[in-house]
Amino acid sequence: ATKAVILVGGASRGTRFRPLSLDVPKPLFDVAGHPIIWHCLTAIEKVPSIQEVYLIGYYEESVFRDFIKDASTQFPNLTIKYLREYQALGTAGGLYHFRDAILKGRPEHIFVLNSDVCCSFPLNEMLKLAQEKDAEAVILGTRVSEEAATNFGCIVSDAHTRRVLHYVEKPESYISNLINCGVYLFSTDAIFPSIRTAIKRRTDRPRLASYRSSENLASSFMLDDEAESEKNEVIRLEQDILSDMADNKQFFVYETKDFWRQIKTAGSAIPANALYLQKAMQNGSQELAPPSANIIPPVYIHPTAHVHPTAKLGPNVSIGPRATVDAGARVKESIVLEDAEIKHDACVLYSIIGWSSRVGAWARVEGTPTPVTSHNTSIVKNGVKVQAITILGKECAVGDEVRVQNCVCLPFKELKRDVANEVIM
Ligand code: GDD
Ligand code: GTP
Repeated sequence: ATKAVILVGGASRGTRFRPLSLDVPKPLFDVAGHPIIWHCLTAIEKVPSIQEVYLIGYYEESVFRDFIKDASTQFPNLTIKYLREYQALGTAGGLYHFRDAILKGRPEHIFVLNSDVCCSFPLNEMLKLAQEKDAEAVILGTRVSEEAATNFGCIVSDAHTRRVLHYVEKPESYISNLINCGVYLFSTDAIFPSIRTAIKRRTDRPRLASYRSSENLASSFMLDDEAESEKNEVIRLEQDILSDMADNKQFFVYETKDFWRQIKTAGSAIPANALYLQKAMQNGSQELAPPSANIIPPVYIHPTAHVHPTAKLGPNVSIGPRATVDAGARVKESIVLEDAEIKHDACVLYSIIGWSSRVGAWARVEGTPTPVTSHNTSIVKNGVKVQAITILGKECAVGDEVRVQNCVCLPFKELKRDVANEVIM
């Protein structure tokens, strides 16, 4: 058997996803009509040998309850459980902490997925490569621009055998444009011993903190030590495990030519939304709105939303539950969340309209397109870095005829005047 783990992180993470993560944990944010991790589950469901999926994180127990209930009916072949870390244990620490649960039923392989990536998750292909190569680990890789590469884990591989020769997490300088997508397949026989070795290496190493403090600093001594022992429990796949695996293990890379993006900042939900909608369109998904004179595909409209027939939507637009889009409005490359209202003749481009927000008549809320290859949704305006995507938090209001450009707007704000390139607090 095979199992899958989705690393969902916790409340202290996802800060770059503000203001949207103030109201919903990032893994549950809706992109292309479904929570981010729902897209992971659709890929996991396509691997016949997987019956069990664990969400591992340190959010409160209740956070994923409703999601798991819904997902269990939508993915009847999967048993989905949330395993809560008592504190952030790191990307490998959580796996290790829950090894008994994971190893129950003796799975040969486990998939580990970062929850904050958007891609087609070619899991069956990764499994096939693992079997062909008798691999202990397979990592999903993708090519990015040289400028973007150092923001990710970088992989040096043998082009012919696809073996990983070298792995460096976010290197200081360029080493390769083949990067870690945050999707792994491990043989259970290899990963748990590797984590154990990393933990052992850590405990054996002398604690520099204890020697550093001088004579009468007993109290800071203690603090150093405590902080150190806490950090000691954090084990990260990327820094503590993968480079070792490249040295000693049967470690291979499966390079995807399909789409891949990270979902870090709130603005990055816009390219992720576009990519998942395009994929749904390619797959002939029945969920999408049928194309018409005023619907430029792909567009997702929740069954409970109200869109006036003269409003023009798309491409790459998602309209959430009970949202309304009035006559003559124009929405393009945007996400309109639950209960939001877009009044008549308003224009919404490259933006996220938060829950229960209101965009007034003839108003214009817009961001700026960024190239898909940039892996970044910030741009420089007048020498200052700003978010290219305009984001209205929950319950914001944009007055009639007001223009909002490249702004991030915190919840409950009312915009009565034109604003540009600002964070509105
Ligand atoms: N359960 C749990 N516990 N999950 C965690 C923890 C933790 O302590 N820390 C991080 N995560 C989850 C996050 O929610 C996210 O899904 C994933 O692990 C990775 O998050 P980060 O640790 O913030 O790493 P990163 O996103 O900056 O970089 C990673 O992903 C890139 C691809 O998106 C690395 O793996 C890079 O090498 C990789 O390129
Ligand atoms: P069409 O010719 O209508 O297909 O649009 P377009 O080629 O001008 O651009 P697109 O369809 O991509 O729509 C974005 C454009 O909509 C904006 O650049 C505006 O020019 C236009 N627009 C601005 N405000 C409004 C509005 O209130 N209502 C409508 N319907 N369009 C607006």
